[in-house]
Amino acid sequence: MSAAIQSGGDLPLRSMLFIPGDSEKKLAKVAECGADAVILDLEDAVAPENKAKARALVADFLKQTPRGKRPTQYWVRVNPFDTGLTLDDLAAIGPGAPDGIFQPKTDGPEDVRRLSHYLDMIEAANGIEPGSIRILPVATETPKAPFTLGDFASAGLERLSGLTWGAEDLSTAVGASTNLDETGQWAFTYKMVRSLCLVAAHASGVQALDTLYVNFRDDEGLRASCRAARAEGFTGRIAIHPAQVAGINESFTPSKEEIDHAQRILDAFAANPGAGTVGLDGKMIDIPHKKQAERVLAQAQAFATS
Ligand code: COA
Ligand code: MG
Repeated sequence: MSAAIQSGGDLPLRSMLFIPGDSEKKLAKVAECGADAVILDLEDAVAPENKAKARALVADFLKQTPRGKRPTQYWVRVNPFDTGLTLDDLAAIGPGAPDGIFQPKTDGPEDVRRLSHYLDMIEAANGIEPGSIRILPVATETPKAPFTLGDFASAGLERLSGLTWGAEDLSTAVGASTNLDETGQWAFTYKMVRSLCLVAAHASGVQALDTLYVNFRDDEGLRASCRAARAEGFTGRIAIHPAQVAGINESFTPSKEEIDHAQRILDAFAANPGAGTVGLDGKMIDIPHKKQAERVLAQAQAFATS
């Protein structure tokens, strides 16, 4: 069974769709978007003059549909600590019992711990089940962050639902004029933090979400990129447009062929009790293949019931 799927009893998040918190029109699309979660944004999708409006709209939106009646998980991206807006954001949205907080620009686990303490109080003040507001930090957006990624595994953060990464804020922070190389792929620094995020998530037993795919009209490109990310071990992805949700969900759900193959691997081991290696279709299969097959079946089961 996959630790990523089991973590904290969290439902698996293949797709998390960003919705700018100041847009009534886009908020109205939440019920039909099909994403495993939406991220109601109070941060960078909202201009400074609209922050107060977004906060009020999102607070209202959360209250309109209480937990248990929501078509999907309602997460909120609050503003980071150095803006001085975080506490006001949390105080406004807390009574609406968000399912999780998407935490931008974290320097590392200590920022998540600080947010977690605030949520302890929010839950107590609003009669919300303790520990039920989950946290998913963007763990690579500041120059300090890459150096603390390895600390998540031992930080004991019970609200931690997953880790994701981002390239835009990091490249701004280091004064880079681009985050791409000459072939249009991520430049080395961003490949590095992406990989560190992936292994840090698995080291912590939580979900690993790949960053957004910016060209939202390119469905084929998105799907190819998602398939590659899943093959590397990512469990889901951020979406910025409703048109991306189906491609992401399908790419991060095990296919029928994968499920059948995984089942055949487990059957082969079951037919050879005590064996550490077995042959299947003329190929050697050993314990890592068995673990991967179990993970695929656990994912398939989780998505079938989510
Ligand atoms: N959530 C909900 N609805 C969305 C949406 C989103 N993220 N993005 C687009 N839509 C809606 C539009 O309102 C439009 O609705 P309509 O058909 O009723 O007019 C429909 O989907 C088609 O939108 P489209 O014209 O293709 O895109 P756009 O030009 O209106 O918007 C973006 C493009 C990028 C501005 C928009 O997708 C967006 O706001 N994305 C999220 C950005 C964000 O939150 N970024 C922060 C994280 S990096
Ligand atoms: Mg950002």
